[in-house]
Amino acid sequence: MRLSGLVFVCVIIIKSILFKPVHTYNILGVFPFMGKSHFYVFEAYAKELSRRGHNVTVLSYFPQKQPLKNYHDIDLGKDNKYFEFRHPIKVSFFHILVSFTILQPVVGPYTCRMILEDDEVQNLLRSGQKFDLVVMEQFNVDCPLVIAYKLGAPVIAMTSGVLLPWHYSRYGVPYNPSYVSYDIFKGGTKPTFLERIARTLTYHYMNFMQSVCSTSEDRVISDFFKDVPPIEELRRQVKLLLLYQNFVVSGSQLLPSNVIEVGGFHVGIPKKLPKDLKAFIEESANGVIYVSFGTILNGSSMQRYVYDAILGALKKLPYRIVWKWEKEIEGNPDNVYRGKWMPQNDILAHPKVVAFFSHCGQLGTTEAVHHGVPILGMPILADQFANAAIIEEQRLGVHVDINKVTKEMLLEKFNTILEPSFRAHVKELSKMWRDRPVTALNTAVHWTEFVARYPNATFRSPIAEIPMYQYLCLDGKSHYIVHRIYLQELVRRGHNVTIISHFPETNPPQNHHDVSLAGSIKILEDDMPLVRNYRTVISIATFLTESGRENCEVMLANKNVQDLMRRKPKFDVAVVEQFNSDCGLGLAHVLGAPVVGLTSHILMPWTYNRFGIPYHPAYVSFHFLEGGTKPTLYQRIERVLFDYYFKTRYYMAQKRDQQSLAKYFDDIPPLEDLAKEIKLLLLYQNFVLTGSQLFPANVIEIGGYHVSEAKPLTGELLEFVEEAEHGVIYISFGSVIKSSTMPEDKLQALLGAISELPQRFIWKWESKTMLLDKNKLYLADWLPQVDILGHPKTLAFLSHGGMGGTTEAIHFGVPVVAVPVFGDQPSNAAAIEESGLGVQLQIYELTKDKIVGAFKKVLDPGFRANVKEVSKAWSDRPMKPLDTAVYWTEYVARHPNITYKPAAVNTPLYQYIYLDIVIVFASTLLVLFLFTKTCLTLACKKSKVVKQKNKKDKAKSKRS
Ligand SMILES: *[C@@H]1O[C@H](CO)[C@@H](O)[C@H](O)[C@H]1NC(C)=O
Ligand SMILES: *[C@@H]1O[C@H](CO)[C@@H](O)[C@H](O)[C@H]1NC(C)=O
Ligand SMILES: *[C@@H]1O[C@H](CO)[C@@H](O)[C@H](O)[C@H]1NC(C)=O
Ligand SMILES: *[C@@H]1O[C@H](CO)[C@@H](O)[C@H](O)[C@H]1NC(C)=O
Repeated sequence: MRLSGLVFVCVIIIKSILFKPVHTYNILGVFPFMGKSHFYVFEAYAKELSRRGHNVTVLSYFPQKQPLKNYHDIDLGKDNKYFEFRHPIKVSFFHILVSFTILQPVVGPYTCRMILEDDEVQNLLRSGQKFDLVVMEQFNVDCPLVIAYKLGAPVIAMTSGVLLPWHYSRYGVPYNPSYVSYDIFKGGTKPTFLERIARTLTYHYMNFMQSVCSTSEDRVISDFFKDVPPIEELRRQVKLLLLYQNFVVSGSQLLPSNVIEVGGFHVGIPKKLPKDLKAFIEESANGVIYVSFGTILNGSSMQRYVYDAILGALKKLPYRIVWKWEKEIEGNPDNVYRGKWMPQNDILAHPKVVAFFSHCGQLGTTEAVHHGVPILGMPILADQFANAAIIEEQRLGVHVDINKVTKEMLLEKFNTILEPSFRAHVKELSKMWRDRPVTALNTAVHWTEFVARYPNATFRSPIAEIPMYQYLCLDGKSHYIVHRIYLQELVRRGHNVTIISHFPETNPPQNHHDVSLAGSIKILEDDMPLVRNYRTVISIATFLTESGRENCEVMLANKNVQDLMRRKPKFDVAVVEQFNSDCGLGLAHVLGAPVVGLTSHILMPWTYNRFGIPYHPAYVSFHFLEGGTKPTLYQRIERVLFDYYFKTRYYMAQKRDQQSLAKYFDDIPPLEDLAKEIKLLLLYQNFVLTGSQLFPANVIEIGGYHVSEAKPLTGELLEFVEEAEHGVIYISFGSVIKSSTMPEDKLQALLGAISELPQRFIWKWESKTMLLDKNKLYLADWLPQVDILGHPKTLAFLSHGGMGGTTEAIHFGVPVVAVPVFGDQPSNAAAIEESGLGVQLQIYELTKDKIVGAFKKVLDPGFRANVKEVSKAWSDRPMKPLDTAVYWTEYVARHPNITYKPAAVNTPLYQYIYLDIVIVFASTLLVLFLFTKTCLTLACKKSKVVKQKNKKDKAKSKRS
């Protein structure tokens, strides 16, 4: 399949996410930061957990005023021991550094002691109450992790905003000053050179402060408990992070699977406004601008010129103003309504509110985006700078620098965001923000319950674990079976689907149109020999690029395709497989349709770059080679070489596709550029099997939907299985590999192992030769794989590790012995072993004893029980994978004009690898060194001169 276009006849989606009654859990929430704005977020989440029947205990400074069912408070602020913190409305580099320096090493250990000293906390630890889970805010203190450790409960961390400098390395999220937005600085994803230098310096400074802070927290903890591991180690045991952001606002960022975006759930349904405020807003002729600088800024510290600029601008604007301000406003202008406190969410939700003048705190920003109100941002501290920068990049608003603000500047900025086209764009983004397959709150709750259900699973990304020296090392048919399910689902939902492929349907429904390529090319089936060495790896490269080129030529020469391209019907989405050719991208470009990428396997080496996904030989599995996420040095060298080789071959083939396209169409941009414009990628894998990997928001894991329900077996096969006293083991090398090409010695080894084990065997085998007794080994050239794997008597699966069969095995919880041959099989086999689904054996190590050993290992009851657990986790998702795939396809059709790609894709290489920053630091050091050296030399000379002079003087005085 190359391309399919979908015309949306009707896009009516009925979402009904039904929550089955689940186990209820005992959950402890620990929110040790005193900021009310943070707690707003956690409160919405904790209340939802209690509403769903979980028994929630909350440790915070903000107890509920009214008692709530299933919600128990432990109030940390009962003696008012904490200090109230009001930040001045001023911005300077000095202020930023000082506030963070105080926040970490000073406030950290202080809060830590206060919490551990608390009587109620002490009682809780002594009570022996069992908790299934601890949820903790991860901001400036981590010492409450020790509470979770003492309770023996798994931990979920949570934020109420974007990532802080010390989060990155903890979760293996890559931080790069050139394109990752930085919380306390402006510049967003496109910083200037100076900003990159400042980011680099403060990033390391803050991380240093954080480690100082950890040491002092460790000292405090040791006053209370002996035998507790250091904080640094407890941090590594955190299962996952619920991150309060969403890519629509923060941009698509590289995140591992255990860092989950849940931004936006604190925004409640708007309530009625107070009478006078309502009247003030509704009686305005042109609309209302809402002004607020949040709760922790100290209004009276605003400098005079800023105040004058704001007041001057607001008086001049033909709008009414609602201003949250603690003091009287000079002159009491009559277009201004002032209040000490304002129902912010209800105001922003009012249709008459046309703009929001804000400091860009996370909550207000989120509420404004939710209701589609453009923002004029004036950031003052912390993450407000990053928020303001991103808002401007996404055109959700604009921002001003408080140190340079003037009346004229404010008026100009207000005029920009009040333009009708600007406001329309904000409304569009606001729709996108709310357009999610599962609401943010349901997502947060799902992953919370997930951790409680699978407390022993690790979700950590391997990048967070690898040693620094490795980190610095520089750097057929089975497809269509998968795609068909997805395409049929789109048809079933009423979309008008046109499919260009080699596999037309015989009896398609009315809204399914095939553009058939059938008969024009040989289909891959039972073709590949069952051997593996460097020669076969290299031949794969040839095979992939050659067949890609041929497909492209065949497709372009096809009459039906040419006819379609001439008619150019309007397509809302083009779905293009991301495999061995980008020819389809050219067609999609001609048709003018936004593109969704689709795979039926893990990423190809050339797919990483175009989506900005980092490929790193030290911890990212390499498609064609073994080693998984823990390769040896030799394997890493192998990977680097083959990665280069495969990409070179691919880019050469891509050039030829470009030439083929040029024969038919004018002006097709370079295919690699078109590839970078792909809106999103539906990736056929899931982290439970392949491990947590770094993906931007537009790469969506949807592995598993092709597995259908198992049907009962029939006839001879049924008899064979039912009569197997010790169960059966199923052997298959898939549809592409010819198992009868197995070398003789390996075949004998396998037959020897089969004879030695008590189980019966079923083998997909193409030739007619009998291998063993019919009662021991059942042979057939076609077998109902899903039905065999779904049968309870099937105990294990010997497989080549293709993604299709592996997915079916994990779905039914059947342990796998994987013998990878080619393609993605080596990395799938490594994933099978690493996830606990099975073990892998390489072809060259196939001996009878090894095979028997592998089967004995996976047939062990303990191993099998764990496989069942992995299988349950695999299916446990907030939304079914097929629904997810369809959802995001429709999403692109709904929001075709927006780009979703991460900033990393467009960052120049020299910035990506920090080249210029390194040069600056190196030259600074060099200059310093030379300067010091020169000074020293001069000083030495001078002192010599002085000494000599002294000598001479002495001599003189002696003489005289
Ligand atoms: C719920 O939590 C509270 C407070 O931690 C505890 O006292 C109570 O026993 C718990 N209830 C259940 C059913 O576990
Ligand atoms: C998790 O591991 C512990 C100790 O190894 C074990 O007792 C417990 O049963 C396991 N829990 C699950 C759900 O597998
Ligand atoms: C559906 O697609 C077919 C083939 O591309 C096209 O001829 C037809 O007009 C489309 N129907 C609608 C209702 O858009
Ligand atoms: C996308 O952009 C095109 C051209 O700029 C415009 O005609 C179209 O209305 C936009 N679509 C949406 C949904 O905004």
